Amino acid sequence: MCGIVGILGRAPVAEQLVDSLKRLEYRGYDSAGVATLEGEHIERRRAEGKLKNLEARLRAEPLAGHTGIGHTRWATHGKPTENNAHPHATDRVAVVHNGIIENFRELREELEKKGAVFKTETDTEIVLHLVDSYLARGISPVEAVKASLSRLRGAFALGFIFAGDANLMIGARNGPPLAIGYGKGEMYLGSDAIALGPFTDTISYLEDGDWVVLTRDGAVIYDKHNAVVDREAIKHSASTSLVDKANYRHFMAKEIHEQPEVVGHTLARYVDMATERIALPVKLPFDFKDIQRISIVACGTASYAGYVGKYWIERFGRLPVELDVASEFRYREAPLRKGDLAIFISQSGETADTLAALRYAKAEGVHTLSVVNVATSTIARESETVLQTLAGPEIGVASTKAFTCQLMVLAAIAVAAGKARGELSDADENRLVKGLVEIPRLMAAALSTEPQIEKLAREIAKHKDVVYLGRGTSYPLALEGALKLKEISYIHAEGYAAGELKHGPIALIDENMPVVVIAPHDKVFEKTVSNMQEVAARGGNIILMTDARGAAEATVDSLVTIVLPDMASAFTPMVYAVPVQLLAYHTAVVMGTDVDQPRNLAKSVTVE
Ligand code: AGP
Repeated sequence: MCGIVGILGRAPVAEQLVDSLKRLEYRGYDSAGVATLEGEHIERRRAEGKLKNLEARLRAEPLAGHTGIGHTRWATHGKPTENNAHPHATDRVAVVHNGIIENFRELREELEKKGAVFKTETDTEIVLHLVDSYLARGISPVEAVKASLSRLRGAFALGFIFAGDANLMIGARNGPPLAIGYGKGEMYLGSDAIALGPFTDTISYLEDGDWVVLTRDGAVIYDKHNAVVDREAIKHSASTSLVDKANYRHFMAKEIHEQPEVVGHTLARYVDMATERIALPVKLPFDFKDIQRISIVACGTASYAGYVGKYWIERFGRLPVELDVASEFRYREAPLRKGDLAIFISQSGETADTLAALRYAKAEGVHTLSVVNVATSTIARESETVLQTLAGPEIGVASTKAFTCQLMVLAAIAVAAGKARGELSDADENRLVKGLVEIPRLMAAALSTEPQIEKLAREIAKHKDVVYLGRGTSYPLALEGALKLKEISYIHAEGYAAGELKHGPIALIDENMPVVVIAPHDKVFEKTVSNMQEVAARGGNIILMTDARGAAEATVDSLVTIVLPDMASAFTPMVYAVPVQLLAYHTAVVMGTDVDQPRNLAKSVTVE
């Protein structure tokens, strides 16, 4: 995950920028740089690799400017080279960026036609040339950034400084976090409270769509409609710990909100954003053409990610997938064929049952591939192939961002398998990858349902039992929703395939039974509407999670309808996971449970 920092200072800022970037190293990076105003001009120092290389560059060629921005880059578009390192700059403006600009290709073509000369492979550079093109026409920096933001689509955070104006810095946020720091005669910009810790304990977090104009006198914040807004300035413990709750009440809340950013970074590790094709980060020691069956093995939430992955791999890869929870798989002596593939999914990479299942599979001679969030974990070290999720440290016991990052990796595997087996054409792959590229932005949009869900949670908290229903890939999400609710609010919940309702669970339905129906408008939507009618006919209270078309066509009164963004893609679970997680979180908050450390649970079950 990239890190952003900016300082409008009263003394040279280069060293302070680097110190702040060091506090963001936990986010992971592969190059770094700073830009300052030296007199009227923008000067840059950038370096590949770790920050010590940038420090060496600054010792050799010091910078004295009191206005500057800095960045640790985690390569998405383009290799981790010095030339691709941020800040990117023209003579007029310098920019640092975290996230993904989805429409960078069309904007690049438009700008090149107007004469812009691109020097890097990054999507960031189109932001630079867009702003520069307005400045070149004499438009002010504030108006240039405002006009440019209206052209960008994607999930991103940005920071700008401008030649000739040492008392100006502009920031913008749409997805990945960005905070403002208030100093004495100084102002700051940073990816999170950790970056700003050395300078101030008074910060404000921008909200999605916000952008901010900073001078040494303070900040003017604009919302996505360009209306001036206030964002609360909070005191944060200038914590030295590299992971803190930022301005959230619980780690779980922060981690739910981190998803657009971390899913975006996982996406960028598995997709070549320039060609919009799948590009797995490691060479597989097998060919999917030679695989006859895949076993997917995991526990809890990770197993529900695996269940979604099963649907995708079977649909796009045309490969049979058997799914099992590790505690069963490890003992039932599953007959595996040498040369087949077993996939193990684990956030911690230390779950005892999953590790034992891995060892069983290895002994049976199958290829073993693990999808883990901790690269140094035991499961990673004992697997033949490791595909890492880039969720960053997940502190909340209830898994959220790791789950959606696992889904992103599984989607990449499914498309890669389909391509390798000749089941997907180039055009199919491109269409599916485009569907993946929009996911971070759609997840950010899904987060805007939070106020509605917070209100709904107060209703759900009054109940003792809840049922979750879904069809297709929404069925594993129904299972995950039930697990999330029960494990942190202690309310009993069960997930069912909606088509199973009549085979027993419908006996549970009455006016005291909330029924959460997860139903994007897809090919089985009408079937799910029939299930909703069966529930309504028995007085059940329906909470419908769907899109605009589903809301319009669901001919059943629901207690609440949560409308998610329209999605052309098959990858709805990554977006619908957001309201499912938020409902569990806010219900637990109403119940007053220990959200981050629920009773009886451990973050990693390292014993049987
Ligand atoms: C998830 O919310 C639970 N805490 C639990 O089901 C978890 O997913 C399971 O224990 C697997 O953990 P792992 O991903 O670290 O292997």
